[in-house]
Amino acid sequence: MVMAGQYTMGYSEEFLQLLDRRNAESHAAYLLPHLDPGLRVLDFGCGPGTISVGLARAVEPGGEVHGVDLEESQVEVARYAAQAGGHDNATFHVGDVTNLPFTDGYFDVAHCHTVLTHVPNTQAALAEVRRVLKPGGMIGCRELFVASSFVEPASEVIDEAWGVFARLLAANGGHPQMGKELKSMLLDAGFSDIEVGASFDFFSAPEDVAFLHAFILDWFFSPRVVEAATTYGLATREQFEIMLRALDEWRTDPGACGAFAFGEAIAHS
Ligand SMILES: C[S@@+](CC[C@H](N)C(=O)[O-])C[C@H]1O[C@@H](n2cnc3c(N)ncnc32)[C@H](O)[C@@H]1O
Repeated sequence: MVMAGQYTMGYSEEFLQLLDRRNAESHAAYLLPHLDPGLRVLDFGCGPGTISVGLARAVEPGGEVHGVDLEESQVEVARYAAQAGGHDNATFHVGDVTNLPFTDGYFDVAHCHTVLTHVPNTQAALAEVRRVLKPGGMIGCRELFVASSFVEPASEVIDEAWGVFARLLAANGGHPQMGKELKSMLLDAGFSDIEVGASFDFFSAPEDVAFLHAFILDWFFSPRVVEAATTYGLATREQFEIMLRALDEWRTDPGACGAFAFGEAIAHS
């Protein structure tokens, strides 16, 4: 069962498949133009490291990337990916973003992708990241906002499913609209010179729609998530069955497409 303050997404194979579709070129495109050889980069909440290794490539030669994640199994996957790809300037650590194992001012750049969405105390995380950044150092964040994520054709039942997802994130101490809140959060943490934008991860090609359908089916309708949502009183099992039928109907519609919405921000310490 998921408990308040726990990480909503979990570390199942189906969620790893979603993360496996990510890389620096597609998911940190807003940050890459700011990276130069020789820079030291922190990737906090790095997960399986599919973005981290692209950041490591961007700071070669002479630069280094340190990925940090709470979960040892993710750090192991990231280490394996870095080794297999020959990224010997990428190092991965098990750790918590609110208590980082680095000295003050160690990094030129900090990056995160869909991490602040899940960390209960945003200001504690940002304060710790700011501590390990050099004065004037840069932070780049790309975070989900559920309110503008969608599948089309939409329906009331599917809209309700997005609502259950958002409320589940919040019940676990997360922030389902963090992508829209980045500017305020960064200002409150003492960052300045803030640029914000937004982008989507879009699913429209038949194989991408099939992937999104399979992901929602295997993750949102998994026993773990259904148990958590029903225990929190966010939906009943009957409502999950109705949502499942709506999802299957959506999948067969020739106009089916969908997207996750993300806010992006760059700021300076
Ligand atoms: C949605 S995954 C994103 C992984 C990766 N950034 C990506 O986008 O592919 C969020 C990751 O943040 C990690 N995480 C959550 N809370 C954390 C914390 N307090 N400190 C470090 N990592 C954390 C989780 O273990 C998980 O691997």
